[in-house]
Amino acid sequence: MKAKVLVSRAVFPEVIARLREHFDVDDNQADVILGVEGLKARLADKVGALTAATDPLTAEVIAAAPKLKAVCNFAVGYNNIDLAACTGAGVMATNTPGVLDDTTADLAWALLMATARRLPAAERWLRNGEWKGWEFVQWLGTDVHHATLGILGMGRIGQTVARRALGFDMKVIYHKRTPLSAETEAACRATWVDKATLLRESDFLVLLLPYSPENHHLIGAAELALMKPTAHLINVARGGIVDDEALISALREGRLSGAGLDVYEGEPKFNPGFLELDNVALTPHIGSSSRATRMAMAMTAADNLIAALAGQRPPNLLNPEVVK
Ligand code: 8YV
Repeated sequence: MKAKVLVSRAVFPEVIARLREHFDVDDNQADVILGVEGLKARLADKVGALTAATDPLTAEVIAAAPKLKAVCNFAVGYNNIDLAACTGAGVMATNTPGVLDDTTADLAWALLMATARRLPAAERWLRNGEWKGWEFVQWLGTDVHHATLGILGMGRIGQTVARRALGFDMKVIYHKRTPLSAETEAACRATWVDKATLLRESDFLVLLLPYSPENHHLIGAAELALMKPTAHLINVARGGIVDDEALISALREGRLSGAGLDVYEGEPKFNPGFLELDNVALTPHIGSSSRATRMAMAMTAADNLIAALAGQRPPNLLNPEVVK
């Protein structure tokens, strides 16, 4: 008899087919959001699960799944998983690092360019039939080339964003608790600075760090006040790292020039104040959303699940204590 697993969200049929070679799969191709109660009900008889960052794998959910051995997120972020609860219950947890670095870095650049050159507002204006003719002073934007790119959180995706700055002749500065090796800094042409210097000197500040309770509102009113009024903030990491209310005030009052945002506090709901601003580029959490990358993420999660339930150490194990 095959082991029972849940796939919590709709994924490509190829992923379900692959899992069916190994498991008895309870899929959710209708893509109903399960939530805590739905997950508790569907995980009660499962030994494994493929999950998204939208699934709250809380201590309560883990406790309601006595047979569970592995939860395999198809996301690099795993702040939806109570890792301590998993470890306590002997449940392996995995994520999908690496496969989405380039695609997410591309979106960071798309948002950076969009906010710098005011693309969303200019397009809305054109679509509304307001373009009556060329003018010398029309939709003036901010130059990206030769500007200073600041990166907060310089992991794999941050480094990928940094490497793309070479073509724009940018100066790259970054902050992370432990500086990169001299070799990696040279490959990224990036210089470590303290956080206050990063905030003060960046023309474009890109956030690329995981969400954790310590990072909650890491960018709030005080941090935004250190930034140049001509600067732009880009967030493709997680909602909650930025205090959205403080960001909206700074953008409204001209204390910050613009923002490019893919993630929001409380998403899919978000602060409606953003919709009243013309100096923002807004996308609905699509950082990793290309067909090839979403396929790679789901297949990586499937690899993790197959290994874990075969009694092997899954490649992207987050809580190795469980297998010791
Ligand atoms: C996911 C992400 O698509 O990997 C992450 O952490 O934010 C995205 O790539 C999203 O979280 C859904 O799982």
